[in-house]
Amino acid sequence: MNNDLYAVVGNPISHSKSPRIHSLFASQTGEALEYTAIQAPLEDFPGTVKQFFERGGKGLNVTVPFKEQAWKLADRRTERAEKAGAANTLYLDAAGVLTADNTDGCGIVRDLVRNHGVRLEGARILVLGAGGAVRGVLGPILAERPAALTLANRTVARAEALVELFAPVAGTARLSACGFEQPTEPYDLIINGTSASLQGDLPPLSPRVIGAKTVVYDMMYSLQTTTFNQWALEQGAQTVYDGLGMLVEQAAESFRVWRGVSPETAPVIEELRND
Ligand code: ATR
Repeated sequence: MNNDLYAVVGNPISHSKSPRIHSLFASQTGEALEYTAIQAPLEDFPGTVKQFFERGGKGLNVTVPFKEQAWKLADRRTERAEKAGAANTLYLDAAGVLTADNTDGCGIVRDLVRNHGVRLEGARILVLGAGGAVRGVLGPILAERPAALTLANRTVARAEALVELFAPVAGTARLSACGFEQPTEPYDLIINGTSASLQGDLPPLSPRVIGAKTVVYDMMYSLQTTTFNQWALEQGAQTVYDGLGMLVEQAAESFRVWRGVSPETAPVIEELRND
């Protein structure tokens, strides 16, 4: 019998680490599957998805720039995908219905809490950015019951819109929106969810948001310390983490959704770090 087929779809896709991560999960758990990378044409993501499942494919991961399209395309969405407004995981459910899930939020929370021992409950958190990446993770972060979550963005109106959207699930957390310059007190945790570093930019934050106990998490990752994390270290942050662990954790959660088996992530993170 042929192995079950999975893939990541994006454009561009050649640098994706997902095939490597899922192959490592498959050999670790003994699951018989193949996982490839597919570059969808920018104008025909739906056609690529349709063809994949018609050929008997079992599940897809979706990455830039198709996550919102994947969300729209699905006929059913999990609760966490519904709120995220974007999907990174697609599969056919038991009834053959195209279902969208989002495991990004679960990924960052597991990396922070389990892998790095960062306490989110009761924490004062500053989140930078208000695009799709941030929207995708806010629900699971708020579910950890922080004391306060401030959303700072270049375009304040986008941060305000997210605050309005997530207010119903904020629980006791104080949720607020502002520009980058406003926050001037040290935070327990700062999460960079902007794509500023792709242009070599730094959000114009006050150095006062970094205290001696501030933990900084950049959702981006790179071989060298990210630009944002470098800045945070220069301002005296206690610890900085990049998003490699999040990448592996979101993949592990997709793998669990598809296969019903949770792979161990630590050895995979370690292996990728040493690449
Ligand atoms: P993604 O899916 O990566 O979140 P996005 O929806 O385009 O992509 O959002 C990008 C985020 O990075 C936004 O918060 C954006 O700020 P605006 O909402 O003001 O556009 C932020 N961003 C992008 N480039 C930036 C820069 N050079 N400086 C600061 N913020 C930047």
